[in-house]
Amino acid sequence: MPGRIYEATGGRLFAALYDRLTKGSEDAGLADMRARVLAKAHGATLEPGAGTGANLKHYPDAVTELVLTEPSEHMARRLRDKVAASRRAAQVVVAPAEHLPFEDARFDTVAGTLVLCTADDPAAALREAVRVLRPGGQLLFLEHVRADDPGLARWQDRLEGAWGYMATVSPAASIAASVDDLERGRFPKAPPLVRPLVSGRATRA
Ligand SMILES: C[S@@+](CC[C@H](N)C(=O)[O-])C[C@H]1O[C@@H](n2cnc3c(N)ncnc32)[C@H](O)[C@@H]1O
Repeated sequence: MPGRIYEATGGRLFAALYDRLTKGSEDAGLADMRARVLAKAHGATLEPGAGTGANLKHYPDAVTELVLTEPSEHMARRLRDKVAASRRAAQVVVAPAEHLPFEDARFDTVAGTLVLCTADDPAAALREAVRVLRPGGQLLFLEHVRADDPGLARWQDRLEGAWGYMATVSPAASIAASVDDLERGRFPKAPPLVRPLVSGRATRA
């Protein structure tokens, strides 16, 4: 089930506005960040919470199969349209990241961008991502995180209860044991609270 900010704004509205709301950030560098993270994708690849398909154009040819999941029917509809209009073949499956309808070790790559912040249970979503990865498979991520700056982090913590947007479970902390190229970044043209980002790749043991 979609997270709290998503429910508060209404799934239909969020899906309808998403591309317009993020365009400034995409143009100011977010698209480049996506491209850098996704350049490492290869083989059978799963993207949970794929939204309106902002990542579609960034997948390299090394991706041999692409499966996109979305729990929101409103997003999934837009996702199907975007896949149909793109040159990339992809299967769209309606499912939350916490309960993926795939067998263990099915994928070579799981790629998630800006998705843990809206998942109801980010830790469960990460466990599922690891479950469907084959041993040696990779998790690529670009996610909001708690700020390094203690002042900003305090505000993030205070507002977490009210809006439920900021994932206080840092993907970096959760999978730190196996992360091999972690980078901190800033969400361009975004309010300070949601600016801190982390991206990288973790390999399944
Ligand atoms: C901020 S948007 C990001 C969309 C896309 N990943 C991107 O990078 O543009 C968050 C997405 O996560 C989806 N979502 C919400 N709850 C989810 C869950 N429990 N599991 C998977 N996706 C979820 C929302 O429907 C939305 O499409």
